[in-house]
Amino acid sequence: MSDPLIELRDIEKHFGSVIALAGVSLTVFPGECHCLLGDNGAGKSTFIKTMSGVHKPTKGTIHMGGKEVNFTSARDAIEAGIATVYQDLAMIPLMSVTRNFWMGREPKKKVGPFSFMDFDKANSVTMEEMARMGINLREPDQAVGTLSGGERQTVAIARAVHFGAKVLILDEPTSALGVRQTSNVLATIDKVRKKGIGVVFISHNVRHAMAVGDRFTVLNRGQTLGTAKRGEISPEELQELMAGGQELAELEGSLGGTV
Ligand SMILES: Nc1ncnc2c1ncn2[C@@H]1O[C@H](COP(=O)(O)OP(=O)(O)OP(=O)(O)O)[C@@H](O)[C@H]1O
Ligand SMILES: [Mg+2]
Repeated sequence: MSDPLIELRDIEKHFGSVIALAGVSLTVFPGECHCLLGDNGAGKSTFIKTMSGVHKPTKGTIHMGGKEVNFTSARDAIEAGIATVYQDLAMIPLMSVTRNFWMGREPKKKVGPFSFMDFDKANSVTMEEMARMGINLREPDQAVGTLSGGERQTVAIARAVHFGAKVLILDEPTSALGVRQTSNVLATIDKVRKKGIGVVFISHNVRHAMAVGDRFTVLNRGQTLGTAKRGEISPEELQELMAGGQELAELEGSLGGTV
């Protein structure tokens, strides 16, 4: 097996007296989809925010390429190749797909002493990258607000891939989507993984995770309940771990059936 792209060791994060993470370790290998599962408040978002430089860990270390790294900002992490797509996507609905794709990193062309945005190049690269992810845009100046939720996720993913992400973190990309759009996003994750990028896929939904995951790490109240490989764990076992086992059994008992 190759070396991990990123390795997080015993990460703790305290917010005052709240212990959001109590020693979580996780590795991400090239080309794998590592699912991070857990109930509300388990610490998933806090963990990936630590991975992407938004939070500084209270304890624990992060390693990339065998060296310890210290991210002081999200920018540091982005420069190291950690791209994050948040659920509430930082996009501007009235602006075109192309503008949202480049977001201030537009290619320039020079005419004499002046430098202009190269619209033709920006448009053609956007169309190409979206097509590579399986979405054929009608036109590059279509407003992002007219795209479906799944297509918007794809713009954000295609953008991260184009700008050289090594690790792509997706925070609940399928939670607000219908069945068809979910399967499109899962297919996109598969394409990204095949490029050798390591994907961290956060989900509440065991079926979505099972559809694309190579490894599964479950968080419960800020602690890792372990990491399992695909084939080593059943959807039922994962579901039970996520809900904390006992609570689910109690619920099943009181409802008189299977939840
Ligand atoms: N900035 C903060 N200040 C104080 N407490 C916080 C902060 N961010 C998170 N927490 C707490 O840390 C714990 C973990 O929260 P986190 O958002 O990481 O959970 P999550 O697994 O992403 O949940 P969800 O599935 O609801 O998104 C919660 O108890 C939360 O209240
Ligand atoms: Mg969260």
